[in-house]
Amino acid sequence: MKRIAVLTSGGDASGMNAAVRAVTRSALAQGWEVFGVRNGYAGLLADAFEPLAARDVGGIIQRGGTILGSARCPQFAEPAGRAQALAHLAAHGIDALVVVGGNGSQSGSASLAREGFPVVGVPSTIDNDLYGNDVSIGADTAINVTLEAIDRLRTTASSHHRAFLVETMGRNCGYIALMAGIGGGAEVIAIPESEVEAPEVAERLRAAYRRGKSHALVVVAEGAKHGVQALLKLYGEQRASIGFDLRLTRLGHVVRGGVPSAVDRVLATRLGAAAVDSLAGNRHGVLVGMQRGEITATSLSEITGRMRPADTALVELARVLAM
Ligand code: F6P
Repeated sequence: MKRIAVLTSGGDASGMNAAVRAVTRSALAQGWEVFGVRNGYAGLLADAFEPLAARDVGGIIQRGGTILGSARCPQFAEPAGRAQALAHLAAHGIDALVVVGGNGSQSGSASLAREGFPVVGVPSTIDNDLYGNDVSIGADTAINVTLEAIDRLRTTASSHHRAFLVETMGRNCGYIALMAGIGGGAEVIAIPESEVEAPEVAERLRAAYRRGKSHALVVVAEGAKHGVQALLKLYGEQRASIGFDLRLTRLGHVVRGGVPSAVDRVLATRLGAAAVDSLAGNRHGVLVGMQRGEITATSLSEITGRMRPADTALVELARVLAM
């Protein structure tokens, strides 16, 4: 191994920069050369490579987003797109690629690995939906941003005796909503892995009102059956029967921005270094991860098409505690 490339792909996640820094400096410490690829797989197709030295990744560990840029690149899913990417990797003499990204991005890594190119994935997505890894880079920051919003909404909800329906990101995975809902003491948490039907949400709010609560919070994952707007529309005229006056907040991309938490910086640093260790040991075609506190490597073919299962017992715990 003499020369590697690193890219960040898919939705950006706080901590990606710490991962790029760790990959770059760990590889330099091995005596390898490092190239950064601009804008994810799109940069592989566009031949957007640039050398990375230790100073190029200085002062970035605390920055959200990704200095390399990111993109969604449907062309990479096509064999012709991948052939072009492989040709550019070969032209630059790149021996291996580190892909920092989420589910879609690691499917791309799996395709490259199947086609014989040495690649190691680093799990980074606020959605935390990757199989073979407990918590992805960026999820902790996104949970904390959601939690801060919930805490703020609670104060105004309480002053006005209102219930807030808060929707947070996560694509098909309810992890952010579940964790922020637990941490924020939500009355109801609705996630795709454990749906709560609209009449049941209304009934739980009614019951909370009858119990004399000054406010209530419903945390809804964007992938749940009904988003917050749909819920309000469904309630229509009957909304008054709930007792609380209802308001909604959709957090959207706000949860993806901002300064990475300490947890994300440390996780990204460890996983970035683990990706280089893996390549140094000639282990590729894997996603490095952290499972039960240990660094692990799971075959990319094993994680493709699978989603990390939700801990639905926590949904029930939140329901019991919302008394
Ligand atoms: O995968 C990260 C994510 O933020 C999801 O939670 C969300 O569904 C999606 O990306 C939004 O994608 P985009 O930034 O392309 O609008």
